[in-house]
Amino acid sequence: MLQNALTIADLKEMARRRVPKMFFDYADSGAWTEGTYRSNEADFADILLRQRVLVDMTDRSLASEMVGEPVSMPVALAPTGLTGMQHADGEILAAQAAEAAGVPFTLSTMSICSIEDIAANTTKPFWFQLYVMRDRAFIESLIGRAKTAGCSALVLTLDLQILGQRHKDLRNGLSAPPKFTPKHVWQMATRPFWCLEMLQTKRRTFGNIVGHASNVGDLSSLSSWTAEQFDPRLSWEDVAWIKSLWGGKLILKGILDPEDAKMAIGTGADAIVVSNHGGRQLDGARSSISALPGIVAAVDGQIEVHLDGGIRSGQDVLKAVALGATGTYIGRPFLYGLGAGGREGVARVLEIIRRELDITMALCGRRDIRTIGPDILDRAPRLDELRA
Ligand code: FNR
Repeated sequence: MLQNALTIADLKEMARRRVPKMFFDYADSGAWTEGTYRSNEADFADILLRQRVLVDMTDRSLASEMVGEPVSMPVALAPTGLTGMQHADGEILAAQAAEAAGVPFTLSTMSICSIEDIAANTTKPFWFQLYVMRDRAFIESLIGRAKTAGCSALVLTLDLQILGQRHKDLRNGLSAPPKFTPKHVWQMATRPFWCLEMLQTKRRTFGNIVGHASNVGDLSSLSSWTAEQFDPRLSWEDVAWIKSLWGGKLILKGILDPEDAKMAIGTGADAIVVSNHGGRQLDGARSSISALPGIVAAVDGQIEVHLDGGIRSGQDVLKAVALGATGTYIGRPFLYGLGAGGREGVARVLEIIRRELDITMALCGRRDIRTIGPDILDRAPRLDELRA
């Protein structure tokens, strides 16, 4: 069944049929009009590749490095909240698929499976994503837990000081664990495989938070809890504080403006992620891929630049690398794979992207991803420009 999926869009449709509506919608949604969410994907189509021929295309390599770690291709799994609601034990399964594929897995602060769950069920270090909350003692304890678990990089998310609004989540009454109103029961009852798998796990709420943060017994409403807890005063000084507490590789996620990118250089961070949170925060902001060239020019090689948002194929990965990203992340694509088929579904997503990336690179006349630069892009005038 999974082998019939040839594209990420195929897996998205399979996930739609397996995952209860409130959780499928949670993945497949952006803030307000979803304009930024749409442009993240659409803007990749405006970038054209140069077709080259009669170049030796044997012995190709996609292997590269992200923050000094070897990766089998420059594609990491992005941190995503409530991943264990797309599929039972979702974060564990996704981390195992990433490990087998030789790419980094990033665990979200807002995950269902805990830091300790991932450490116990994987053999290689994973990355941990941190949201800064008002309760600083809790932040210190999260960083300590990530160190104990052997996480090899900390991804600090900067673009969620205040939660953007997604209409679908409010209309669906999203919560973890799910509520048992007739509407929610119906949504789950029509997805029997999801229910059967979910009944076999105990992991159904925020594993890093419930039972760890003080005064948090249960998380009935995600939006009201996050609205209270996320720290709207987060500043560049806090980044320095977190860097000193953590001491290891630090990645700053959620930069979309060249001025902010320049500020990041002085923090001692190892990389920045050009990201608008998958269009889930500031609706009306530009797409990540359109922001990338300006940021790459602004930082001028002084910090590693990664990108996420809208990557749906290996062609998209190659375009981001050509524009200066040394690494990319996928969010929704791996969630669709997970919803469609658990660990094998995520493996299938990575397989599809790897194959597309490899073939696309070859048809551009290149054999090694580390040599990819803007020269593989076609910047000649297009038909509409020639007519004008
Ligand atoms: C996210 N994202 C996110 N980012 C983060 O730093 N911490 C988090 O907990 C989450 N949670 C989350 C949930 C879901 C359902 C999605 C889709 C996204 C943002 C994520 O890391 C990444 O920036 C985007 O997903 C990238 O865009 P694509 O690949 O989904 O288009």
